[in-house]
Amino acid sequence: MKISRRNILKAIVVTAGTLEACSSDITQPPPTTPEDNSRFFPQSIASGDPRPDSVVLWTRVFDEDDPSGDRTLTVEVALDPIFTVLLARKPDVPATALHDHNVKVKITGLQPSTFYYYRFIYEKNGKKLSSYIGRTKTAPGAADGRTLKFAVGTCQDFIGRYYNSWHRLLRLPATPDGGADQDLDFVIFLGDYVYETTGDPGFQVPGGTRNVVFREPETAIALSRGDTTYYAAQSLSNYRDLYRAIRSDPFLQMMHESYPFVFVWDDHEYSDDCHGATSTYSDGTKDENNVERRRNAELAFFESIPMDHPGGTADVVDFDGIARYPETRIYRDFTMGKHLRLAVADYRTYRPDHLIPEDAYPGTVVMDAAALAAAGLEATYSSDAYAYVDIDDPAFMSQKTLLNIAYRQLAIAAGLEAADVDARVAAVLKGPIAVAYVNAVLSALGATPLDPTGKPRGLAWVHMGKRDLFSRQGSRYVVIKDTLDAYAAYKFAATQGASENVFGDAQQAWLDEALAGPETWKILVSSVSMTSLMIDLRDKMDVTDATLRNRFYLNVDMWDGFPSRRKQLLDQLSKVAGGKAIVLSGDIHAAFASVEDGVACLTTPAISSQSVKGGAAGVAVGAGFDPTSAVYKYAVLQIDTTFQEANPGIAFSDCDSNGVLVVQLGAEEAIATFHLIPGVNAETDYASRPNDLAARFVQRRFRITPGSIVPA
Ligand SMILES: [Fe+2]
Repeated sequence: MKISRRNILKAIVVTAGTLEACSSDITQPPPTTPEDNSRFFPQSIASGDPRPDSVVLWTRVFDEDDPSGDRTLTVEVALDPIFTVLLARKPDVPATALHDHNVKVKITGLQPSTFYYYRFIYEKNGKKLSSYIGRTKTAPGAADGRTLKFAVGTCQDFIGRYYNSWHRLLRLPATPDGGADQDLDFVIFLGDYVYETTGDPGFQVPGGTRNVVFREPETAIALSRGDTTYYAAQSLSNYRDLYRAIRSDPFLQMMHESYPFVFVWDDHEYSDDCHGATSTYSDGTKDENNVERRRNAELAFFESIPMDHPGGTADVVDFDGIARYPETRIYRDFTMGKHLRLAVADYRTYRPDHLIPEDAYPGTVVMDAAALAAAGLEATYSSDAYAYVDIDDPAFMSQKTLLNIAYRQLAIAAGLEAADVDARVAAVLKGPIAVAYVNAVLSALGATPLDPTGKPRGLAWVHMGKRDLFSRQGSRYVVIKDTLDAYAAYKFAATQGASENVFGDAQQAWLDEALAGPETWKILVSSVSMTSLMIDLRDKMDVTDATLRNRFYLNVDMWDGFPSRRKQLLDQLSKVAGGKAIVLSGDIHAAFASVEDGVACLTTPAISSQSVKGGAAGVAVGAGFDPTSAVYKYAVLQIDTTFQEANPGIAFSDCDSNGVLVVQLGAEEAIATFHLIPGVNAETDYASRPNDLAARFVQRRFRITPGSIVPA
């Protein structure tokens, strides 16, 4: 943060866009105290969406003496942190109660690759109260060939967890290349900036000092797990509470005070594993499409996140003017000098549902004999396991009656409303049904099984791992890879790609254009991981249940769940910029560096959220696999080895750490450094023990060249 005379002189000639230019180039800074900042600017300040000539600034002002009144702020921009020379000042920026006193201002007319300092001033009873002073940096100009350095973060669950990763990044020492890893041009945040729940015991740790308490719990969604009741945000007030709470963290505040961020959202800014306005809490027993909730989540995000909006002009951002669902648009791209076009994609808003719905009836045949033949898969799926019958054939009337009885019992036990049962069972219990599922039900009822001999062969949901009527297992998680891939390809062709149209046509057209730019490297930011995560138990003879000796995708809420589209996108990326393409992702709470179909893919670990290994342990035990079982060994204890064995493209896997990723990008190569700390530390506050914290971190560095990732 050196202030040179030269820079100060430059300040005088820099234009100030739509800001009111200062009549004087010398100013006395108003007193800034930590007390003023935390009292009147409790979430401090932030900047984002840096471009060569603009940046967006944010704050929220709070006055306990007048919590519901509208007020105005002044924003000031300077080239030095003590505001010796004031570049611009804009008074009368409205901070309205209607928008929770959030303020976003887009500053234009700036110079490329330049540090700027900014502050917000609130005048109360004749006294000028200043926020902390923020530093931000504009992007390099299009012809600027300098090396870039940026950090990547994701998944910062707040409840019971500490932001040790941000703390470490802020204190990193110099690196061998002469720079310091904390000396960044910008930070990319990949989503799950907030989590919508107030203490889901499945992964959060409520009860300590790190909590989110909704002011209006009656407007939230009450959920329960075991004996615990907790809430998911639903109203605008609820969603605002999430941002207020997490931005109370001093290290997150310092990150925002130090660097501009480029954001994308993932699911938890709205709802776990969402698609469009649909959430997934009930595993398909209820219709969870809720447009109003989605729009509330979006408004709170837009109010709190310093991002630009397509078509947004300079000056104060009008929150009411930002398009929301279903007109939402947050995908956008950035030219960061000569070497980087950063394409920030939205995975959540336009995508279809998972290919296997949570309420998919396991017996339903989705590729019949003719479809298998057309796909050339007759021989692959010729065994008795794939037999099916037409359940409406009078010959199977008694079996159909038993299936009907079983459905009713299982559906009520799963939480389906009694009034919905008739229509649901009628909708699914018809046509071709897999013998494997029929026999599983008959066997549970003590009835004689059907003989599969001579019956036609086809693929049903049960062949993809869907065993229960309403479940995320076999729908969003732990899905059999080969059968899903076969079905996905069939459906993709039959719907002209609509079944996996993740981006939507308009976003894809935007991406095509961004990837065709002249920059040396193209980075696609996608909140969910592109690294294929498979658990291959086919040859694991110590797995005693033979039906589990299969090859599974761990999680098909990520790109693995859209295998046809994923392949198409990777094919597109592998052909741009002579192979200089990278996919940056988060979401899965693990670190990966892998080459997928010739494309380098980096997944950054969670800042603080429970690691995927920790989550897998809970799921495995919940599914009946105790820690001494073979399944637990492969899916939990040896999870990194399991992933690497199943996907040889994985050069690095760490499923049990939190941390951040720092990328240094030059013309020829990118150096990616993971800063990692074992996940067990996330529940400990190291704020006063930076050296102790530093000792727990390790670094893993990789060199990325077209289609290659090797240790550096
Ligand atoms: Fe997450």
